[in-house]
Amino acid sequence: MRILSVESSCDETAVAVVEDGRKVLSDAISSQVELHKIYGGVVPEIASRKHIEAIYALADEALQKANITRKDIDAVAVTYAPGLIGAVLVGVNFAKAAAYSLGVPLIPVHHIRGHIAANYLAYPELEPPFLCLVVSGGHTLIVDVKDYTNMEILGGTRDDAAGESFDKVARVLGMPYPGGAALDKMAQAGDETKYDLPIPKAGENPLDFSFSGLKTAALNLIHHAEQVGEELDVPSLCASFSAAVSKMLVPRTMQALSMTGYKKLAVAGGVAANSRIRADFLAETQKVGAQLFVPPLSLCGDNGAMIGAQGYYEFLAGNTAGQELNAYATKSLEGERL
Ligand code: KG4
Ligand code: ZN
Repeated sequence: MRILSVESSCDETAVAVVEDGRKVLSDAISSQVELHKIYGGVVPEIASRKHIEAIYALADEALQKANITRKDIDAVAVTYAPGLIGAVLVGVNFAKAAAYSLGVPLIPVHHIRGHIAANYLAYPELEPPFLCLVVSGGHTLIVDVKDYTNMEILGGTRDDAAGESFDKVARVLGMPYPGGAALDKMAQAGDETKYDLPIPKAGENPLDFSFSGLKTAALNLIHHAEQVGEELDVPSLCASFSAAVSKMLVPRTMQALSMTGYKKLAVAGGVAANSRIRADFLAETQKVGAQLFVPPLSLCGDNGAMIGAQGYYEFLAGNTAGQELNAYATKSLEGERL
């Protein structure tokens, strides 16, 4: 089954063709990052407009790269939630029109479920049940993936997302948006023991996270150094911050893994690209004899292929929609049907 899959929830427009949920035939992507850089973050109105400009050509490119024509498409999958509402609407309307004109089913896909499914593309042998930590610019969640379309959230952030806190600290250090990857690179040359950053408890649920205290502590440290004219050791601050984020993420996720009894841990979303977090997860999973699945960098960020991967399993579960499908800025990934 060949699925044309569409992603437009934030600042990447992407259209892919995926076969049977596991094989990427093509993935055409257009990033708006350069455009939003001067504003230090994504401007929703600009994002929506750029999605409209890019999406038709990307769909043609996806078909061309897959070496197929429109009549070879069996279904259209699209991110319908969550995201910037105007941006999501562009993809949803395009997908509705495409499914209608081709006379094929329309499959709504939750964006975070898509991030989890990126692992199916990278690891053909991976099947549920497994535990997944989703760490992106907007989300930080521990998810029990009981089945392809049956998931339970075991823990999540009480305030900022992990990626958001990386980006904020990077911005104050003068790195262009989104600064997570640049901060990671800078951290390589640093000494993580130089700055002491707090790793607060996040509340009642031991599997919940909190990043705002950690972020504020790092920002205070930077501002204080500026005020007293003290030279900041930027690589070491980046190393200390990355280590602190990892210490927030890794032990809680490992605790959840032990609670579920699973021996498979997947990590998904843009922050999964972080070298410190990857290394810590590798060491911890080895200790307990669990398998670790982390997609390659190209599949960690937003892309169309991950929507086609999850779309296939949503289709098998009967989760298709009609032309009344709407877009949603927020929606839980836990298994409601439309
Ligand atoms: O999943 P994603 O592409 O977009 C969504 O938020 O859905 O994630 C982007 C986030 C940004 O906050 C970016 O700074 C962060 O992932 N990121 C990283 C690294 N690479 C990307 N954060 C830390 N270390 C990295 N190497
Ligand atoms: Zn994303």
